[in-house]
Amino acid sequence: MNYRHSFHAGNSADVVKHSLLIALVRALQHKDSALTLIDTHAGCGLYDLDGADAQRTGEATQGVLRALADPNPLLDDYRAAVQAVNEGGEPRLYPGSPQFLAQLLRPQDALILNEKHPEDVQALRGAMRGTAAAVHQRDAYEFWLAMLPPRTPRGVVVVDPPYEQTDERARIIASLAAAHRKWAHGVTVIWYPLKDRATHSRWKEQLRKLGIPKLLCVEHWLYDSDQPGIYNGAGLFIVNPPYAFTQALPPLLEALRAALAPEGHSGEISDEWLND
Ligand SMILES: C[S@@+](CC[C@H](N)C(=O)[O-])C[C@H]1O[C@@H](n2cnc3c(N)ncnc32)[C@H](O)[C@@H]1O
Repeated sequence: MNYRHSFHAGNSADVVKHSLLIALVRALQHKDSALTLIDTHAGCGLYDLDGADAQRTGEATQGVLRALADPNPLLDDYRAAVQAVNEGGEPRLYPGSPQFLAQLLRPQDALILNEKHPEDVQALRGAMRGTAAAVHQRDAYEFWLAMLPPRTPRGVVVVDPPYEQTDERARIIASLAAAHRKWAHGVTVIWYPLKDRATHSRWKEQLRKLGIPKLLCVEHWLYDSDQPGIYNGAGLFIVNPPYAFTQALPPLLEALRAALAPEGHSGEISDEWLND
């Protein structure tokens, strides 16, 4: 396990992932019934943007710092969640998915986090002290299936792996198929990086073949054509997204595309049902 999210916290992929997570949970909270939020690859929970790791890559300058400077009101919820961990001052800290999710909890909701890396899980426990979150240190795929179905009537599972193992995609596909058998109406969000369009089409096809009826694919391409050897963007597969979320999605995606487009590129962001 070499991947450390501290090098990448607050990058453009985090902005899209965390903005969509906020919108998704808020849409589910239109109903009063309790939600369980489950984060299988939680990371550290809170990141220091002035720290050596973040400063080495500078990725936050193309992500959260652009989103904070952008005037579009559709990004207000995201900006407020980032500001909440900075007490309104300069954005020195970046909240990871556990902190974004913790901010959304209502009294009836539960938050269950998992992180395997020994240093990161210790940081996570520290970052989540004083919140209602439960923290586990298990293998993400074993944990994912063990948590299903959750105790509350509804829930969301967030799967955000580093994709450093060659079998990561195969494990996701096998686990998603098993998870869907155990909890067909559950909401699942799977983050993925975009390297090039050919690799992505092949993987999308494998997911489509699972035959899950309500499977939405969101793709964010940063550049106007594939840039060889670098990260070209990221996306989310979302199983069973609520109607209010999908209705509000197109303008939010456009706001994110515009805020995050690199110099000289428009970028492209889209959503597509895989089994329509
Ligand atoms: C992309 S980061 C998570 C970022 C976090 N979800 C966020 O949005 O703030 C992926 C995390 O998964 C952890 N990880 C990698 N393999 C894992 C496994 N098999 N089980 C649990 N955690 C794992 C890594 O240590 C890393 O902290």
